[in-house]
Amino acid sequence: MARSIALFLLSLCITSALAVPAQRLSLRQSPNPPQDIQSPLLFCPASSWPQADIGSLIEPQVPDSELQDILSQVSPANIEATILKLVSFGTRHTLSTQTDPNRGIGAARDWIASEFRKYAEASDGFMTVEVPGYVQQPDGDRVTFPILLSDVVATLKGSEDPERIYVVSGHYDTRCLDPMDYECDAPGADDDASGVSISLELARIMATHRPKATIVFVAVAGEEQGLYGSQFLAQTYKNNSVNVAGMFTNDIVGSSTGDDGTKDPHTIRLFAQGPPLTENSTQRATRLNVGGENDSPSRELGRFVHEVAANEYTEMNVSLIYRLDRYLRGGDHRPFLEAGYAAARFTEPMEDFKHQHQDVVVKDGVQYGDLPEFCDFDFISRVAKVNGAALWSLANAPGQPTNVYVNTTALDNNSQFVWQPPIGGGIGVTGYEIVWRPTTAAFWTHAIDVGDVLTAKIDLSKDNVVFGIRSVGAGGYKSPAVFPFPLASSS
Ligand SMILES: *[C@@H]1O[C@H](CO)[C@@H](O)[C@H](O)[C@H]1NC(C)=O
Ligand SMILES: *[C@@H]1O[C@H](CO)[C@@H](O)[C@H](O)[C@H]1NC(C)=O
Ligand SMILES: *[C@@H]1O[C@H](CO)[C@@H](O)[C@H](O)[C@H]1NC(C)=O
Ligand SMILES: *[C@@H]1O[C@H](CO)[C@@H](O)[C@H](O)[C@H]1NC(C)=O
Ligand SMILES: *[C@@H]1O[C@H](CO)[C@@H](O)[C@H](O)[C@H]1NC(C)=O
Ligand SMILES: [Zn+2]
Repeated sequence: MARSIALFLLSLCITSALAVPAQRLSLRQSPNPPQDIQSPLLFCPASSWPQADIGSLIEPQVPDSELQDILSQVSPANIEATILKLVSFGTRHTLSTQTDPNRGIGAARDWIASEFRKYAEASDGFMTVEVPGYVQQPDGDRVTFPILLSDVVATLKGSEDPERIYVVSGHYDTRCLDPMDYECDAPGADDDASGVSISLELARIMATHRPKATIVFVAVAGEEQGLYGSQFLAQTYKNNSVNVAGMFTNDIVGSSTGDDGTKDPHTIRLFAQGPPLTENSTQRATRLNVGGENDSPSRELGRFVHEVAANEYTEMNVSLIYRLDRYLRGGDHRPFLEAGYAAARFTEPMEDFKHQHQDVVVKDGVQYGDLPEFCDFDFISRVAKVNGAALWSLANAPGQPTNVYVNTTALDNNSQFVWQPPIGGGIGVTGYEIVWRPTTAAFWTHAIDVGDVLTAKIDLSKDNVVFGIRSVGAGGYKSPAVFPFPLASSS
């Protein structure tokens, strides 16, 4: 199906290519072969212009041996055991009991913390576990009495650049059809024991490894009542000026089967917001003026995941969606976006609404409810691998360059960039790359190694392509790219 669409689009492109003068066609003789099957339109002359071959073609990054080892340890049996255990608490509604040892959100919270603590024992002191919380007062909406709201947080301290952190989260609270009913059975296997199982499984595996930057594995509460746990975490980081260089929420990553039975078991969606929610009007106006609306930090994070985590080791395709979230839905990446951090949301390729936010009930012979029998543990394991590859690749690369500008002082036909080292002085930087792509391409197509410098001039007009700058470190690990804003002519 996908292939026939691609062929159809390709034939359209060929037809339109034949309509252009022969001279233009000859330029197509040594095209840059598009790498991305998700972007068949890259074949089209109009979208792959200019035909520059400056730099080398960007290929998907192959995991090194340590990352391959990490990915190979992801266990569908562990993922399944975690989900069944979380479901066994009956409900994990944020307003449910916190004193019953076997039922309710309190018991679930304590079990998650005890699992993290078990993994931390193998970390040589690098992993610490906390259960930060606060009392959420009635909000006139989905919280009707004061409630202790707790996140469970395992922090694996980076070995070289510990002040730079990456967060991976899922929410451990659940709900039924009525979001206020905290006593009904709300198994929440897919939404969102699946996401929590990924935080746990990656914490277990990575506890015995030493990423250069810090990775934080989280299970938050209060998602269904108003994103409270995630908001608390994001605000805590923001108030303490913590450099959260990237955040992922895994929310509803448990199944690849749609409501019509269609399966798409090798695809995960990644929702990435456009222009930052926190940009002021001046920054926003400049961004729109230079066509930077598709190059927010969250989009660059999404492109990064596509480059490092869609491969034969994860056995997954990453379908980047240029959107904050699905219609009518919200998620735990939003509070991080609102705090000014780059954040994105993983969600299964198709959703079956019979198995989300439903009471567990059989109606007309059809089973409703978010039950583990509708989860695909191999699929969740592959999603865990995508997260693992992304987090490991982020944490082992240097941070992103800062103060990245394109020099627009003169009207000329090339592009000069200036930038500064990553926050913290450039720990682990061995050099920088300028990346570029046609303005209509979804992903970076070319990279130019410019060495360990803080300015570079490229013989390609800034008017015709999108540029980004990224840091390079040991082992060829690269940061996500940063979009250059114009350098004011006065500075
Ligand atoms: C963060 O700081 C704001 C402003 O001082 C304060 O209102 C808020 O309670 C703080 N949040 C957290 C989680 O520390
Ligand atoms: C907008 O933000 C930029 C960067 O932080 C700052 O330099 C500028 O003064 C701000 N402008 C306004 C109008 O707030
Ligand atoms: C997705 O990835 C798998 C494994 O890497 C591959 O076999 C498959 O062809 C891909 N499917 C699509 C639709 O891209
Ligand atoms: C920007 O370009 C102008 C003119 O080409 C040059 O004089 C200036 O030094 C450049 N600025 C930086 C920061 O490199
Ligand atoms: C840019 O302009 C210079 C002269 O100002 C010319 O030598 C050069 O070939 C031009 N480069 C491109 C890519 O058009
Ligand atoms: Zn959810």
